[in-house]
Amino acid sequence: MKIYDLRSDTITKPSSAMRKAMAEAEVGDDVYREDPTVNRLEAMMGERLGKEAALFVSSGSMGNLIPLYLLAGRGSEVLAHSASHIIQHEIGAISAIAGAMPIGVDAPRGILSAPILEPLIKAPAYDMAKTSLIEVENTIGGICYPLKNLQGIRALADRYGLAIHLDGARLFNAAVATGVDISHIAANSDTVTVCVSKGLGAPVGSVLCGSTDFIEEARRIRKLLGGGMRQAGILAAAGIYALDNNVGRLTIDHQHAQEIASALKKSGWAKFEIDDVETNIIFFSVEGVRGDKVVELLKKRGILASANGDLIRLVTNLNLSSEDICEVCGIILEMEAENFE
Ligand SMILES: Cc1ncc(COP(=O)(O)O)c(C=O)c1O
Repeated sequence: MKIYDLRSDTITKPSSAMRKAMAEAEVGDDVYREDPTVNRLEAMMGERLGKEAALFVSSGSMGNLIPLYLLAGRGSEVLAHSASHIIQHEIGAISAIAGAMPIGVDAPRGILSAPILEPLIKAPAYDMAKTSLIEVENTIGGICYPLKNLQGIRALADRYGLAIHLDGARLFNAAVATGVDISHIAANSDTVTVCVSKGLGAPVGSVLCGSTDFIEEARRIRKLLGGGMRQAGILAAAGIYALDNNVGRLTIDHQHAQEIASALKKSGWAKFEIDDVETNIIFFSVEGVRGDKVVELLKKRGILASANGDLIRLVTNLNLSSEDICEVCGIILEMEAENFE
């Protein structure tokens, strides 16, 4: 049976051209700042995002943790959407390591705004934690932030002297889907983490971007966390390849997600909470059927999905061709509500 892996865009495997770029990468000791390929990836990402400097880190989680550690810190409050990755999926590192207190904020479709956030900013008081940072995730659940929300949050943060960190694990998806230049999106935050190992298809790595002073400190904290890498140019070369070759093609993943969403809508058994699919992520549920059961039934037909509670997630990615997506849609349309009983 053919398997269609839609669990995540992290499952993508490097293409032979990407592997060739990795094999041929010029390397040096990056802890000594002597790896030319890492230096090149950092310069490229900083420039694309319109930030002064950048740092190659091993994961998106590390790229989020360092700014939380440096810009929020012990005993302070971080405002983030309650479904955000830093609250739900990073092992509590925000508290366990950065020492900050996450305040989960609810907002429709995951999208925060200044009017939602402002009442949650603490006035200075001797007995209360100080609000220090707003964290924004873009895309969140595949949904893109409207630029005006980000600009409003930036103005609010400036008024209250707060920092903003952007978890841009899938920021290139947001830029491609909205047609807004990625640097215009990034301009509304102090720091940004972008992953090259998700939709962009590199095997490892994220890049944390910010001011020169911030990145200097971030380099120290990366070492503190055990994240200093030596001949990491082999990995950075994959990131460079991804930036050069895999950004524009994200539109294909987005189109594939549209096709799967319309097959699910036609199926009669899939229920959508948010029925707009903006990038490469689709969420749905099946009334009265537990999420793990739905995953199991899809798996029997070759479709690998993931479940968060009863919500099923499908993520299109560069390992799936247009023919694969056509076949996935065919399987969805063949399934009947009774198959889930
Ligand atoms: C939105 C978001 N942020 C951060 C991360 C963390 O990335 P990593 O798995 O590289 O630590 C992920 C991982 O899937 C993510 O989806």
